[in-house]
Amino acid sequence: MRCQFDMVSRVRLLGKNVVSSVAALIVASAVSAFGLAQPASAADPAPAKPVADIAKGKATAGAVCAACHMPDGNSMIPQNPILAGQHAAYIEKQLANFRLKPGAKEPERNNAIMLGFATMLSEEDMRNLGAFYASQKPNAAAPKRKELIAAGEKIYRSGAPEKGLPACAGCHGPNAAGIPAQYPRLAGQHPEYTESTLNAFRGGQRKNSAQMTTIASKMSDSEVAAVAEYVASIR
Ligand code: HEC
Ligand code: HEC
Repeated sequence: MRCQFDMVSRVRLLGKNVVSSVAALIVASAVSAFGLAQPASAADPAPAKPVADIAKGKATAGAVCAACHMPDGNSMIPQNPILAGQHAAYIEKQLANFRLKPGAKEPERNNAIMLGFATMLSEEDMRNLGAFYASQKPNAAAPKRKELIAAGEKIYRSGAPEKGLPACAGCHGPNAAGIPAQYPRLAGQHPEYTESTLNAFRGGQRKNSAQMTTIASKMSDSEVAAVAEYVASIR
């Protein structure tokens, strides 16, 4: 079942390279089917965690995602987030959250564009893509409204205790590099994207983190804008 699904999605993903990738897949599925058929050895009872294949992630990223996120994940379009240098587990989680789960009315992270692309991916594709983007060097976006940076830094470092807004640094780290696996990198992200995703947490289109929904709901428009400019400025 799993092999078939992987094969279908990969054929759709790779389009014109179908012939060569199908041949490669038949070999790969034969190998993995053989591997799965092996009984677990007594010395190693826990199933091995699947290893991500960065080269395969790079191929999918180049063929499918590059149009919007660039081949190395350093998107130049401010609405499309920079993925280079983001943590692998976070990317994998987002890709899973963009999909519609069976029985759910809408995805946990409701975005029409990414719904389509995430739905084409197998779990293996998501793991490989996460590992590939995590291995790329981020080129930080340029902050645009420099006059907001100082106010943003204050919120990032200290929050706003009078209204129960915690310091962002507490979870995203002092330099906004994030803390794998849970807390994403924010440094150098396009301010337009950071602002719009904080607004999506506030507005309920993004429901994949109860923590961030609570935090974003305590922020004003000007605090959202300021903190987005500040994190964009961090190198
Ligand atoms: C047509 C343009 C487009 C294509 C193609 C595209 N994306 Fe996206 N991607 C977006 C946009 C726009 C967003 C922001 C969605 C939002 O605001 O929630 C996004 C968001 C994401 C995020 C969330 C990042 C974060 O910081 O939370 C990930 C991960 C992602 N895309 C991965 C991919 C992968 C992997 C592919 C290829 C399989 C892909 N995208 C193809 C436009 C695109
Ligand atoms: C208690 C921990 C915690 C604190 C404090 C926190 N965050 Fe987060 N944040 C998270 C987690 C967890 C996620 C990942 C959510 C997910 O899995 O989608 C996240 C995700 C985000 C994202 C989405 C990144 C992306 O690429 O889409 C932004 C933006 C963000 N946080 C901004 C902030 C800001 C600004 C503050 C301070 C006002 C803040 N966070 C404080 C835990 C926290």
